[in-house]
Amino acid sequence: MALQAIPARIRWAVDFMDVQPGDHVLEIGCGPGAGAELICQRLETGKLFAIDRSESGVDRTKRRCKRFVDAGRLTVRQIDLATLRVPVKRLHKVYAFNVNLFWVRECQDELALLHERVLPGGIVHLFYDATRREQVPEIKEKASAALAKAGFRVSVAENPNPPVLAIIGRR
Ligand SMILES: C[S@@+](CC[C@H](N)C(=O)[O-])C[C@H]1O[C@@H](n2cnc3c(N)ncnc32)[C@H](O)[C@@H]1O
Repeated sequence: MALQAIPARIRWAVDFMDVQPGDHVLEIGCGPGAGAELICQRLETGKLFAIDRSESGVDRTKRRCKRFVDAGRLTVRQIDLATLRVPVKRLHKVYAFNVNLFWVRECQDELALLHERVLPGGIVHLFYDATRREQVPEIKEKASAALAKAGFRVSVAENPNPPVLAIIGRR
């Protein structure tokens, strides 16, 4: 089977996140599965729990990352973040790329749920494609405010090439 290319924006984001071999990671909105593939390559004893509310996102990630599912390193579930059930205070890192929920609507319930499940010192990373420069200020403002309101310490990073906006919430 042909190898599927991993977009440069996703490579940059996963490098930025600095996944450690023992990390427990949650991915929200795994879609085609490129982020899951790269994250799983870096895990040894750690695990990735990847969710997407769409059936096609879940199927694509499962297909692309079958070897990691078979090895027990990756679990993929069709769940909306609002109904996530994972043990409290277990996650080292949360990764979401181009998941608009965090800046287009009220999301305090979802962020409260993440705050409960992320370990002290753990980090939520919200990445966005920053190709459309005019959208960047609004995404930055709204997603940062939402994370801060949920109790995270917020910082922002911007990469010019590939253009990626990272909004980082530390617990
Ligand atoms: C634009 S796609 C991005 C896919 C992938 N992260 C990427 O960057 O290529 C957004 C994905 O997030 C999923 N999604 C959006 N809101 C979600 C939610 N509340 N819970 C779970 N998945 C969600 C969508 O179904 C979709 O697959």
